[in-house]
Amino acid sequence: MSGTPSIDGGHPIRDEVLGYGGQDITEREKEAVVEALDGDYITRGPTVEAFEEEVAAYVGADHAIAVTSGTAALHLLGEALFEDGDEVITTPLTFVSTANAACYAGAKPVFADVKRDTRNLDPDNVREKVTEDTAGIIPVHYAGQPCDISEILAIADEHDLRVIWDACHAIGSEWNKEKVGGQKDAAIFSFHPVKTVTTGEGGMVVTNDDDLAEKVRSLRSFRMDYSPEGYDNEPWYQVTEGVGYNYNFSDILASIGRVQLDRIGEFKRRRSEIFDRYQDTFADVEGLITPFVKDTVDPVWHLYAIEIDEEKFGCSRKEFVNSMHAENIGVQVHYVPLNHHPYFQEEFGYDEGDFPIVEEIYEGIVSLPLFPAMSEDDVEDVIQAVKRLHEHKRD
Ligand SMILES: Cc1ncc(COP(=O)(O)O)c(C=O)c1O
Repeated sequence: MSGTPSIDGGHPIRDEVLGYGGQDITEREKEAVVEALDGDYITRGPTVEAFEEEVAAYVGADHAIAVTSGTAALHLLGEALFEDGDEVITTPLTFVSTANAACYAGAKPVFADVKRDTRNLDPDNVREKVTEDTAGIIPVHYAGQPCDISEILAIADEHDLRVIWDACHAIGSEWNKEKVGGQKDAAIFSFHPVKTVTTGEGGMVVTNDDDLAEKVRSLRSFRMDYSPEGYDNEPWYQVTEGVGYNYNFSDILASIGRVQLDRIGEFKRRRSEIFDRYQDTFADVEGLITPFVKDTVDPVWHLYAIEIDEEKFGCSRKEFVNSMHAENIGVQVHYVPLNHHPYFQEEFGYDEGDFPIVEEIYEGIVSLPLFPAMSEDDVEDVIQAVKRLHEHKRD
């Protein structure tokens, strides 16, 4: 379908709004929830434990600790690994929670620029940001494409830094045939509805470090010692060892997670099909910069993020977004760089323009709808909406 874009007076490509991401829930998840509700525990019980074991086995980590969100997972790891006065290097092209992992612990988030092609942290720039106060690095596997893991680990080894891999976009993604999640020191996942595996809200810490796992488990549940030594005959006796949190996950949500994890192969295939269809279609559209994919990775794609070259495409990113919305197609920008946010500017002195590559990417970036529940017609609607706008602007 070509013709006049809806924003300029044409009929919208769709009557119903298509979101940019969303869950895929079947009868299996619904039955699992009913079964969980009939169980003895609807808070953290055996289903949470089973889900943790399955995630740990799937990503190749010794421990998995389920929590209430990806943000909670970052909070607990930040608190476990960093302290007041530390510096923690991360990307500005992420959601606020990534950098907040440092802030929660009183540490300073130090932003480094990203690589122009993958949009992941640039190891050379990370190296330049290391000071004597640097305690860690928090890389993000942007859109599902793993970072240069070995290069980042080499920097961490060289300077004795702790690494938290923000893998919220990347459950199931592989780097050099290895799943993300098992690398040192720890990784975190999010189970928000736009993510590949969802439980509505939820998150997970995974690690091979026994001490770190114990610390995170304790922080998750009030830092309570439930069986202090010497109190065997006083079963009620439980005492706190410090200020902890209640980030306990529930058996109800874990029951959804177990089914979703079992379906991850199906999700990966469908996400890849849509991703490839977009890649084939948009490769030749002038003014659209399509995602670059490294040959050492096998991602489970979370986002399909293109960049609009205003001059060549014929309109700005702003006009593109508003035009897609007028066609009832949900698109989103990942992300407003963190150095643009008032909090990071006022608290840490960052400013717009501090990171030239991030700035260049932010200028044109926009994510098109990509989620397994999309039908072929939905995908076609997105393609037609983009083509219609492009043709109209080039007339
Ligand atoms: C890169 C990244 N980090 C952290 C988070 C926070 O995860 P959650 O929404 O589960 O708290 C998100 C989710 O939006 C994310 O995309």
